[in-house]
Amino acid sequence: MDRPETFYITTPIFYPNAKLHMGHAYTTTVSDILARYNRLAGKDAYLLTGSDENTEKLVRAAEAAGKDPKEYLGEIVEGFKDLYAKLGISYDQFIRTTDEERHWRGAQEFWKRLVAAGDIEKRSYEGLYCVGHEAFITEKDLVDGKCPDHNEAPMRLREENYFFKLSKYTGEIKRKIESGELEILPVARKNEILALLERGLEDISFSRPADKMTLGIPVPDDPSQKIYVWGDALTNYVTALGFGTEDDGLFRKFWPADVHVIGKDILRFHAAIWPGMLLSAGLPLPKRLLVHGFITSGGKKMSKSLGNVVDPLELIGEYGAEAVRYFLARHISPFEDGDLTPDGFKEAYNANLANGLGNLVNRVMKMAESNLDAPVEIRDEGMPREYKIAFESFNPQAAAEAVWNLIGQADKTIQELQPFKLVKDHPMQAKEIIAGLVQQVYSIGKLLEPLMPETSAAILASVAANKMPEKPLFMRKD
Ligand code: ME8
Ligand code: MG
Repeated sequence: MDRPETFYITTPIFYPNAKLHMGHAYTTTVSDILARYNRLAGKDAYLLTGSDENTEKLVRAAEAAGKDPKEYLGEIVEGFKDLYAKLGISYDQFIRTTDEERHWRGAQEFWKRLVAAGDIEKRSYEGLYCVGHEAFITEKDLVDGKCPDHNEAPMRLREENYFFKLSKYTGEIKRKIESGELEILPVARKNEILALLERGLEDISFSRPADKMTLGIPVPDDPSQKIYVWGDALTNYVTALGFGTEDDGLFRKFWPADVHVIGKDILRFHAAIWPGMLLSAGLPLPKRLLVHGFITSGGKKMSKSLGNVVDPLELIGEYGAEAVRYFLARHISPFEDGDLTPDGFKEAYNANLANGLGNLVNRVMKMAESNLDAPVEIRDEGMPREYKIAFESFNPQAAAEAVWNLIGQADKTIQELQPFKLVKDHPMQAKEIIAGLVQQVYSIGKLLEPLMPETSAAILASVAANKMPEKPLFMRKD
């Protein structure tokens, strides 16, 4: 028997040092939409998400909140899961990097592979350390003496570290990206990373003295050091599948990943360090990276450190989770920055959900309920070409566009044929038109599944019952 094709998709593991904002919700929602599309297309899709917990900034955040780090972490991670439940994120696993059984042991096994390849070396290191980045940064990254991403001056640090010899993989990584073996979407990001590779990669610090890290995975055979952020975090994509620990078949089944979805801020880590680590460990590279832009708020990157975040829970409270999913999918480009404002959100909601979609479903199902004797016999029309192409190019925005084109067409049919006027004098003809519209509404409902799963279910239920939706899908907001 043929096994369905697999599709392994991951989100970054976010730092649980604060609640998630719309930027994180964006990455996760896009990932969920892609996972759901692939399930709809018959694949065995696996969506991984999680939290990146072994970091000093988390410890500082816990201190600021007057809490024990583990307790603090637990609470924030619950908050992640709560948000994901509300948003309908269909993740298959939530990995926490404080999971000692699976993640720590797996990450240590990964480390041993790097050692076996001769790629780990102890060196003394002095540099500028940015706490926001959790990384050493260079003089030329600074603007007015500060890290421009975090608006904070770095500290000068000198210490013993194990280094990962990333530089030696520069050529191989470059070739794999150039050839598309490791695909980077969009092309602008591919070019950005190729330019970096052209300048050559430097070896990087992969551990820190254990006494400088409260949390963290001990370096195998040297407990005086702990594995340092990226050497730990990136391995989550394989430790979650049981790499180096349990052989429950997940790793064999799902690795290499079909796509890592990330924001452009962590491109370098995913397109240079991670491939280097995998090459060193003798493992296949992921097939692609989908690198999205930033959600901006008032023209600036939405970020905890800039204090301009929009809380997804507030929008969910006001408009519902389905509207948030809709907005993120259709009104934010997956490839460029996109602005989110309260007015823009409301306008899109009223025009395209309360009016566009909601209104269409109501009108059609109302006509069906009062004029048809039984539910319409539905044909499965499959997926329209643009919709399929959109998803196959990892573009949920274009997929949403394709669905809203169908909504526009159905609206136009109603306007042109005016079935409600024909009912009296030409009932047969009216019924036929209405049945056709119900079929269109069904197709729209079906295609909405990845984008808005609850709305999709409500539409399909309404069609099956030949009744108007039990409650209006979207109420207009003034
Ligand atoms: O970097 N717009 O975690 P992080 C869009 N733990 N996306 C945004 C965004 C914005 N304004 N702000 C954040 C880390 N994001 C590491 C990752 S992965 C092995 C380790 C999203 O909490 C986007 O996906 O800082 C970005 O890449 C990520 O959050 C950074 O999350
Ligand atoms: Mg960050």
